[in-house]
Amino acid sequence: MTTPAAIEIAGLTKSYGDHAVLEGVDLVVRAGTIHALLGSNGAGKTTVVRILSTLLRPDGGRAAVAGHDVVTAAAAVRESISLTGQFAAVDAILTGRENLVLIAQLRRVDDAGGVADALLARFDLTDVAGQRVATYSGGLRRRLDIAMSLIGDPPVLFLDEPTTGLDPQSRLEVWRTVRELAGHGTTVLLTTQYLDEAEQLADRIAVLHDGRIIADGTLAELKALLPPTTVEYVEKQPSLEEIFLAIVGHDGASPMETR
Ligand SMILES: Nc1ncnc2c1ncn2[C@@H]1O[C@H](COP(=O)(O)OP(=O)(O)OP(=O)(O)O)[C@@H](O)[C@H]1O
Ligand SMILES: [Mg+2]
Repeated sequence: MTTPAAIEIAGLTKSYGDHAVLEGVDLVVRAGTIHALLGSNGAGKTTVVRILSTLLRPDGGRAAVAGHDVVTAAAAVRESISLTGQFAAVDAILTGRENLVLIAQLRRVDDAGGVADALLARFDLTDVAGQRVATYSGGLRRRLDIAMSLIGDPPVLFLDEPTTGLDPQSRLEVWRTVRELAGHGTTVLLTTQYLDEAEQLADRIAVLHDGRIIADGTLAELKALLPPTTVEYVEKQPSLEEIFLAIVGHDGASPMETR
């Protein structure tokens, strides 16, 4: 492989008391790609993310982010990453722009205002920049949260269930944002329980189950694991999500006529 690894995990183990959660996780995430980590509730996805972001010590095995070991070089890891958890860490009293400026000042970035304005433009938030975050929809908040996490240009971004609890339109907005990031060269490790999210976004998909990665590959490679399905002739009904999106309009701009 030519692309360097942004994240390398080998034989990672973690137990809580006598409850073994990770029992030898191996995973390589190439720089500049979106890698989805799929798993059911309690599979250990957040545990992996917390270990990679140095919030939790592993029991055994190794993990490195941007070439730095998460245990022996935790400070260097923290400088290379950003973590966005499930609940948007934005201040609702402040406006979108004020949130960005605040974080830029905390991170001692030069020209905090300029950095904030550039991120507002990049994430299509300029129109709402002067409004208090309390008035934002869940999707807007999430987008602002992701924009805030990019201050200082961390090369590796962890998104832990970025669209849980969002409506379909907001999910599409967040997906667009994540794609944009990967287009700029950011490496994204994304955990999700939504199979369609992984299908839509990820270059590669890893499945965490019973403490290990039981499958890891492109969507095409994962599909090849199953025998081809036999075709039956049935009328294809649109899914509720497709109907919802058709009625309200994908981008919220041009709703389908309903009479
Ligand atoms: N601090 C803790 N103390 C004890 N057990 C914990 C702790 N954190 C997580 N666990 C347990 O470890 C297992 C894995 O949890 P984790 O949060 O990593 O799963 P997850 O895949 O992120 O799940 P979800 O999809 O619900 O977010 C679960 O059984 C959970 O109850
Ligand atoms: Mg979790």
